Amino acid sequence: MSKIILITHQKGGVGKSTLTFNLAQNICKDAKVAVIDFDLQGSLCQLKELVNGFDMIPYSGEIDILETLNYDFIFIDTPPYLSNHLAKLIQLADLIIVPTKAGILDLLAIKSTLELIEQESKANNTLIVFNMVKANTTLTLDILIGLEEYNVKIANTHISDLVAFTRSVLINGVRNDKNAQKQIDNLTKEVLTNLI
Ligand SMILES: Nc1ncnc2c1ncn2[C@@H]1O[C@H](COP(=O)(O)OP(=O)(O)OP(=O)(O)O)[C@@H](O)[C@H]1O
Ligand SMILES: [Mg+2]
Repeated sequence: MSKIILITHQKGGVGKSTLTFNLAQNICKDAKVAVIDFDLQGSLCQLKELVNGFDMIPYSGEIDILETLNYDFIFIDTPPYLSNHLAKLIQLADLIIVPTKAGILDLLAIKSTLELIEQESKANNTLIVFNMVKANTTLTLDILIGLEEYNVKIANTHISDLVAFTRSVLINGVRNDKNAQKQIDNLTKEVLTNLI
């Protein structure tokens, strides 16, 4: 059975597609990987021709297709709204990654996504990942307050705001930037640990 990793957050521009791409790119060195783009505007799928090492599959309108696909890992990128399919995708997912920026307004925006996850009893399978963290920022406790009422995990790995990530989808990842690659390696380890 494929392990399904859903990357979701109703807010736009938090790095769902960027993290989906980089995690898939990293994991596909040792495994058979597909990315399914549930974003009908399909930004990731537009890069299909540039992708090496994993399959990029546009959403066909059939959620049930997920159960028939034969991959080690299937990553699902989602659009920046709570789509009709989201509850079903949350149910099917082995791990749900919710990327967020570290601002107060970003964390307020996360709540409707987390409430949907809680309704589907999947908080235990959810990992919040701080993305685009500015240099010399420490994430203070006040940022995390409000998250504790949901029983979700917070990734130890923080992904920095780096040009390497902006470019990564064009050049098959971040291997040219040691710092960025180390962060994605660490996040990959956390993802795999959470899938056991
Ligand atoms: N860690 C990062 N460092 C620098 N830039 C980043 C990082 N993560 C994402 N970005 C940039 O931020 C922008 C938004 O990222 P991305 O498209 O991945 O977000 P998204 O959540 O998928 O957005 P949408 O909801 O609109 O699909 C892009 O220009 C991307 O290159
Ligand atoms: Mg996106």
